[in-house]
Amino acid sequence: MSDRAEEDTVGFKVENRIATVWFNRPEKRNCMSPKLNRQMMRILEELEFRDDVGVLVLTGEGTSWSAGMDLKEYFRENEQQGLHATRKAQREAYGWWERLRWYQKPTIAMINGWCFGGAYGPLFACDLAVAAEDAQFGLSEINWGILPGGGASKIITELTGFRRSMYHAMMGENLTGTQAAEWGLVNEAVPAAALEARVTEIATVLLGKNAEALRATKWAIRRVREMTYHNAEDYLVRAQEAAGFFDSEGRKEATRQFIDEKTFKPGLGSYDL
Ligand code: ACO
Repeated sequence: MSDRAEEDTVGFKVENRIATVWFNRPEKRNCMSPKLNRQMMRILEELEFRDDVGVLVLTGEGTSWSAGMDLKEYFRENEQQGLHATRKAQREAYGWWERLRWYQKPTIAMINGWCFGGAYGPLFACDLAVAAEDAQFGLSEINWGILPGGGASKIITELTGFRRSMYHAMMGENLTGTQAAEWGLVNEAVPAAALEARVTEIATVLLGKNAEALRATKWAIRRVREMTYHNAEDYLVRAQEAAGFFDSEGRKEATRQFIDEKTFKPGLGSYDL
C-alpha cells in the first residue's frame, strides 16, 4: 500500500482525555514521508487545544514506532526535484517536531518497535518515553553513509553522555528498549504486553495534576537545559511570576487542603483538583 492517502498516514483517537496518535504506515515501518509529516502537523494542531484532551501519546501501528525518514519519498524523490523540495520537506518534518517539543499538553512516546534516525526527533520532542523491552533504537545513518542529521546528533548527546553518543552514532548498532532505558533515551522499558497499560497509568497520573502547572513545568525543564545556572534561576523566578502561580486559585486551594483541611500531603500526591 505504497500510495496510502495523506489523511491515512496518521491515526488518532481520544479516550478518557488521553489522545493517542499513531504513525500509520505499518507497511513501510512507519517511516516519515512528506505526506505523513504534513498530516502529523494537522493532527497535532487539531488536538492541541481541545478541552477533552489532557495528555497526548505518540505510538506506531504494527511492528514499528518509526523507521526514521522515508529514504524514497523524503530523501530521493525530493533530491531529484532540487534543493527547494528538500528544504520544504525538512521544514515540514522539523516543524511538527518543534510543535511537539513545545506542546501545550504533556506528551508520552510509547515506543512499540523500531525507532531509527529521524525518529529521534519526535522521541526527544515527547516529554516522557516508555519503550517495549524488545523495541530497537538505532542511529543507522552511519550504515548507509550519512551523518545523523535533522537534530539526531544533538538529540543523542542531550539524552545520553559523550562516550555513549559516540558509540551509538559511530557503530550503527541497535539498543533494545531495556538498554535504551539504561542509557536514558527513555524513562523505562516494560514487556511489550504491558506497554499500553503502563503508559495509560502514567497518563492518568498526569491527568490528575494541575494542567497549567504541568505545562509551565515541562517548558521550564526544556528551557533551563540550555541556560547557565544563574540564568536559569532568574528565568524560573520570572516564569513563576509571569504565570501568576503565587496568586493562582490552584495553589490557594492546594495550600488550603494541606494546611487547613489536612486532606492531602503534597509530598505524597496531588491535591484534589
Ligand atoms: N525509508 C523508506 N522505506 C522504508 C524505510 C525507510 N526508512 N524503512 C522501511 N521501509 C520500507 C521497506 O523499503 C519495505 O518496503 P517494500 O515493502 O516496498 O519493499 C517496507 O518498508 C518494509 O520494510 P522491511 O525492511 O521489509 O521490514 P523489516 O521488518 O524486515 O525491517 C527495518 C524493518 C529494520 C526497520 C528495516 O525496514 C530498515 O532497516 N529500515 C530502515 C531504517 C533506517 O535506517 N531508517 C533511516 C534512518 S536515517 C534517517 O532517518 C535520517
